[in-house]
Amino acid sequence: MSEGSQVDLDTIEAAALQAIESASDASSLESVRVGVLGKKGTLKQVLRSLGTLPPEQRASFGARVNRVKERVETALGAAKDRLGSPQSKPKATAAGSASDVTLPGQMPLRGSRHPVHQVASRMIRIFGNLGFEVADGPEVEDEWHNFTGLNIPVDHIARDPAENFYLEDDLLMRSQTSTVQVRVMEKTPPPLRIIAPGKVFRPDTVDATHSYMFNQLEGLVVDEGMTFGHLKSTLLTFFQQLLQDDGMKLRLRPSFFPFTEPSAEVDLYWRGGWMEMGGCGMVDPNVLESVGIDPERWTGFAFGLGIERVTMASFNIPDIRYLYENDVRFLQQFS
Ligand code: DAH
Repeated sequence: MSEGSQVDLDTIEAAALQAIESASDASSLESVRVGVLGKKGTLKQVLRSLGTLPPEQRASFGARVNRVKERVETALGAAKDRLGSPQSKPKATAAGSASDVTLPGQMPLRGSRHPVHQVASRMIRIFGNLGFEVADGPEVEDEWHNFTGLNIPVDHIARDPAENFYLEDDLLMRSQTSTVQVRVMEKTPPPLRIIAPGKVFRPDTVDATHSYMFNQLEGLVVDEGMTFGHLKSTLLTFFQQLLQDDGMKLRLRPSFFPFTEPSAEVDLYWRGGWMEMGGCGMVDPNVLESVGIDPERWTGFAFGLGIERVTMASFNIPDIRYLYENDVRFLQQFS
């Protein structure tokens, strides 16, 4: 018996290694594995004869079987690396069926740009076509750029701590993008034609048209011979291009801003009434002077539009709060 087992073991090992060597794909490799190491495999059968051996031979015979088993497993592992494991094929499920790769896949949820950013991009593109360049400024501002440089006197209500988010004595979250007018004019000599989109912050009570944080798009033109006619035609052209609506109605309503003279509110007819889109006016000579620009030679106009308000008018959104709630059901409509 011991002789025979020795022969059997050697034969089994040689045959297995030979079969592994010549296996050409993962499934024939798997058959070799089952044929040798499986429950009814040849090695198992040999092991079954262990009981017939004299007790003193059993340990060494078992050890030899194990060595063969290990060598076969090592060879199988190496061959698997070469051929790819059969597990890379569809795995049988518990029910016995392989997964059906022809079924349609599940579409991953696609994100989209926020409507406010979509509209801001469109606004920038339209003003870009009108020759405006984009300028930028910090969201944390000093009083000079937020107020003083804009001709807003020290005792003006707009400076009241209750109307602003002050961080320190001279530092606040900017309450308007008009700050960028001052920053640009300080650095760049006219002629100038810039827009400045960005966030502004005010402790306003939140309602359907107000929020404590929103986005504005500031515009500034400084050149020779600028008139209120240039201002009006710029805003008209912009809203016509944005809304592509022949029935669009724009109104410039006389108003007051310390940094423009004369000044007007920009109102758009929307949903049966006038909605305020922002403010505008001719740059006050005091503002030009405060940044060292000669108001005798240069004139300018400026405007500041609320991007959320423009977004509401563009997409017919009735309440500004929808824009901040991050509700996917709402946002998906703009993808
Ligand atoms: N900064 C003003 C605001 O936030 C809006 C504004 C009014 C901007 C008139 C301007 C302007 O450039 O000329 O209420």
